[in-house]
Amino acid sequence: MNKKLIDSFGREITSMRISITSRCNLTCLYCHREGLEDSGRTMTPLEIARITEICASLGVKKVKITGGEPLLREDLEEIVSLISKIPGLKEISLVSNGLLLASRAKSLKNVGLKRVNISLDTLRSDLFRKLTGGGNLDDVIKGIDAALKSNLLPVKLNTVILKGINENEIEDLIKFASRYGLILQLIELVETEESLYGKYFYDLSHIEDALASRAKEIIMREKMHGRKKYILDEAEVEVVRPLHNSEFCLRCTRLRITPDGKFKPCLLQNDGYVDFLSPLRQGASVEELNKIVKTAVERRKPYFMGVRFER
Ligand code: 5AD
Repeated sequence: MNKKLIDSFGREITSMRISITSRCNLTCLYCHREGLEDSGRTMTPLEIARITEICASLGVKKVKITGGEPLLREDLEEIVSLISKIPGLKEISLVSNGLLLASRAKSLKNVGLKRVNISLDTLRSDLFRKLTGGGNLDDVIKGIDAALKSNLLPVKLNTVILKGINENEIEDLIKFASRYGLILQLIELVETEESLYGKYFYDLSHIEDALASRAKEIIMREKMHGRKKYILDEAEVEVVRPLHNSEFCLRCTRLRITPDGKFKPCLLQNDGYVDFLSPLRQGASVEELNKIVKTAVERRKPYFMGVRFER
């Protein structure tokens, strides 16, 4: 019987986001690098499976594999294959920039990957190259195509909207999503550097209002940070607004794990890490490993404290 993990703010932990490498083949202008510093240690596939297994035994149901760029790991298929055998998990998904996906979508599907999120901020090749530090948009499109053909469904696009850069592309992106049957996620910029944020932050609240008035249905995603999904005639669109949003934090159900095997309380928090990999390597017992996860859960607190959390 799976137990429930509930943090001190009453949030049940049902998902985990595990970064398996901090390496990337792009250098996107705004990238938050999952809030990670580079570190020397990397988990092996068996270690990744072990941490996932312990979390699953405590109630985690969904695993998202992220990076850096996870496809830079040649053992990604082995990682997914090991994770897919863990009892209790309902979904394994991947976040990728899509550049290397065309040749691996099928093999990833075959070992148990369910779906992918592909980061794509523009449909203009010249702008794509500039924003990503040299990426080739055609390769991403081939990656999307391969994901669709391999049934890694639904394929979602992660699109960060930047002021003065791609804010005028939203309609084109909706059309693109409609043509390929993708779910479009419009993401508000999360601050990495103050200067970038000041220059490029684009408030999506009026976009969200416009989507609400044209949607034929709006779905509230309780366990996904309370995000709303707008069902348009053309496509499904989600709006992700993590900053200054206490609702987002209040409904956060996820554990974050760094490539060097530590729990990180929050994307935006740089303290309170809990090391899992060192004890694992030193032969800690299942009870000790469970306790580490529980400590990590206890350290979670909502980053944006709205009125709701004032005491
Ligand atoms: N703000 C918002 N989203 C970001 N991402 C990366 N950096 C940022 C940022 N500063 C998103 C990308 C990618 C996902 C892993 O994180 O869209 O898809």
